[in-house]
Amino acid sequence: MRKVYISGLGQVPVTENWEKSIRELAGDAALLAMQDADIGYPDALYVGNMMAITANRQAQLGTMMSDWLGFHHKPGLAVEAACGSGAAAFRAAVIAIASGEIESALVIGVEKMTDSPGSEITASLATAADAELEGDFGLSFVAINALIMQRYMFEYGWRHADFADFSLNAHANAAHNPYARFQKAISRKSFLDAPMVAEPINLMDASPIGDGAAAIVLTSQPLSHNHPQVFVAASASCTDTLSVQNRKTPTFLTAAANSANRAYAQAGIGPQDIGVFEYHDAFSIMAALSLEACGFAEPGRGPQLALDGKIKFDSEIPVATMGGLKARGHPVGATGVYQLLEVTQQLRGAAGATQVKRTKYGMAQNIGGSGSNITTHILQRE
Ligand code: COA
Repeated sequence: MRKVYISGLGQVPVTENWEKSIRELAGDAALLAMQDADIGYPDALYVGNMMAITANRQAQLGTMMSDWLGFHHKPGLAVEAACGSGAAAFRAAVIAIASGEIESALVIGVEKMTDSPGSEITASLATAADAELEGDFGLSFVAINALIMQRYMFEYGWRHADFADFSLNAHANAAHNPYARFQKAISRKSFLDAPMVAEPINLMDASPIGDGAAAIVLTSQPLSHNHPQVFVAASASCTDTLSVQNRKTPTFLTAAANSANRAYAQAGIGPQDIGVFEYHDAFSIMAALSLEACGFAEPGRGPQLALDGKIKFDSEIPVATMGGLKARGHPVGATGVYQLLEVTQQLRGAAGATQVKRTKYGMAQNIGGSGSNITTHILQRE
């Protein structure tokens, strides 16, 4: 398989954007990425999106963006894997280029969540779960994660306060990211005092609803830019049971472990080589479970890494370096592309105030559903 290079980046701020439609948001990010790459129109277009059909009454995002951007009859396809749609779209493009079918692709992740009332968005988010086994019983997505967190705290003896540092770290990093939804550090007290959403998940454990779009141009050849080249060293995807109740161990993300292990094998490295990890901290419990599944902590020990300060951008395993899902924001289908863009910025040495020290390998892991569809990418600086 051929190498695939990251040759153009574009993003718009994650926010409540009532001025722009979904195609305008996606188009703005796409044009920035295409300008950055400066190669004209790529050979194909992939769009990661989860809920345009329900939230924006729009299917066919591949066609919509091809039309809006003037892709002149080139292939355009939407890819859906719930909150993991962004990385799934990126992976589809990587495979197409690596196989030799095309030479370049534009990947867009987009989600426009704030045009609909909160209750409708909550219902749309719940479609990422198993409709018959979970959704039909009234479980929201937050509630499912709350049940996992309750079980985890019961099994391993953690208190809610022990999860605070995941959020503190994310918000502290987002304070330096002009594209982040919440550009403000938070205090331990505001974490502890935040309103409860679904016991034990409070407002500061949860990622916010938001609108956003990020885009990446991929090419089979490195382009002559004046920054270090970054290429895709590994791309791996794995599924698990759709419902959490059908898992032997609901407190371990088996699909995350399997996709991370496949990615490590493809890149010929291990967790100790990763200099930055953009994980899927949709809830603080997911932050802990991701660190454990990807080999950075033993099962049940994830919160200790945060408590010991080891997840900060200048420490052992930097995570959420631009704010993560918690504070950069989580426009669901766009998130995977934001993560990959941020890892690329880190490896290029262009991450500003939260620049990590080790810039050879970075990992991004995007989770669809409650750990049911997981894509892991490892990027490498040449
Ligand atoms: N973290 C910090 N602050 C948040 C926040 C969050 N996650 N969500 C909202 N806020 C803030 C808002 O900015 C607003 O502040 P303001 O009053 O100063 O303007 C305030 O809290 C109320 O915002 P609102 O939009 O009314 O919140 P809400 O109660 O409707 O929604 C959640 C809060 C947590 C229920 C909602 O963000 C949610 O459902 N999150 C989870 C989304 C999800 O499941 N994603 C998929 C995961 S894979």
